[in-house]
Amino acid sequence: MRSIVRLLLMWLVCGMAAAQAPPPAGAPPDMPAGGPPPAAPRVANGLALTPPMGWNSWNRFGCNINETLIRQTADAIVASGMKDAGYQYVIIDDCWHGQRDAAGNIQPDATRFPSGIKALADYVHSRGLKFGIYSDAGERTCGGKPGSRGHEYQDAAQYAAWGADYLKYDWCNTGTEDAHAAYLTMSDALRATNRDIVFSMCEWGTAKPWLWGETIGNLWRTSGDIYDHWQGKKAFMLGVLDILDLQADLYPYAGPGHWNDPDMLEVGNGGMTDTEYRAHFSLWAMLAAPLIAGNDVANMSAATRAILLNRDVIAVDQDALGAQARRVWKNGDFEIWARPLKGGARAVLLLNRSAQAAPMTLQLRDLQLPDALRVTLRDLWKPGSAPIRMKGHYTTTVPSHGVALYRLAIVPESAL
Ligand code: GLA
Repeated sequence: MRSIVRLLLMWLVCGMAAAQAPPPAGAPPDMPAGGPPPAAPRVANGLALTPPMGWNSWNRFGCNINETLIRQTADAIVASGMKDAGYQYVIIDDCWHGQRDAAGNIQPDATRFPSGIKALADYVHSRGLKFGIYSDAGERTCGGKPGSRGHEYQDAAQYAAWGADYLKYDWCNTGTEDAHAAYLTMSDALRATNRDIVFSMCEWGTAKPWLWGETIGNLWRTSGDIYDHWQGKKAFMLGVLDILDLQADLYPYAGPGHWNDPDMLEVGNGGMTDTEYRAHFSLWAMLAAPLIAGNDVANMSAATRAILLNRDVIAVDQDALGAQARRVWKNGDFEIWARPLKGGARAVLLLNRSAQAAPMTLQLRDLQLPDALRVTLRDLWKPGSAPIRMKGHYTTTVPSHGVALYRLAIVPESAL
């Protein structure tokens, strides 16, 4: 009995001491006294209820960026119709940085961004778009610029003051840092700003962020960097099919507010055929992937524009259910992927990875649907075409390195 009383007393004294304790050494100045609040279940930030859409400078321009390019791209996103189709975040990737000032505040590269980041964000906002910025959890970014390590709260406050709506947070030069802890720190720093900032975790999948990212960030990279090729690996980079194969088992982890990110789009960057780009775009839509264009929007071809602006395909990506497609059938180079859509329809994709065009057959039983069911297929790459009525199975020719993409709807009994 006496030991229980002693335990209770100790618990009381320790609790009071903790309540009066100063912030832990090295804690950010805006962290409440006594350290972080007691562990309540962490909740998501409520953003990105459908996969984020926008444009990012990296895939096409790398470090060769400046404020004129970003402004012109924002203009082109509006003029081309991309904004109306849903592309909203204009994201500057690596290499916008200069050095930190004497107080540790990060400054932009004064030659490339002479008007400053706030003016640029204001311009992007004035076009009805949102503004995104980039940093890194390590000492340096992948491009060798100052990273946010040890400056997380200061940087988050700076981005918020500039008007950022999106942060891509990279993973170069992180040494022995723990990914979960590092992304949690920046997530908390972003929340402390009280600004809505989508958090894009660019950890490349090494620490399996899909297992812990749901309440920390809104999207997480699942692989190394995409490069503008249909298939193949080069150093840290992977082609479209190589990335696709890494996504096949990750469907349980995607949903409104938290998405697997197979990396940004290469559509229009010149390394693939238009057929391959249509397949890349369709596959990313099936995967409920963020649709972050990475091309030179101000100078894109009509074919590139037609791909990026296909509203039927975008609607698959942006479906409110947020269910990532599963690979439901595979035979060598031929695959069928399917995802349920809100309201009972499905998106179905036939993929031909081979070097020749080939007939492919969709069987309703591959979708766990009865053979006797009557359904319609709307070909999403033939906008305006009449829906195909089918029962049991349907055969079509799929181009080499290409897809056929359908919206499948069950014909109601009353319409039979
Ligand atoms: C990493 C990322 C890329 C890009 C570059 C910038 O490789 O994965 O998406 O941000 O860094 O240096």
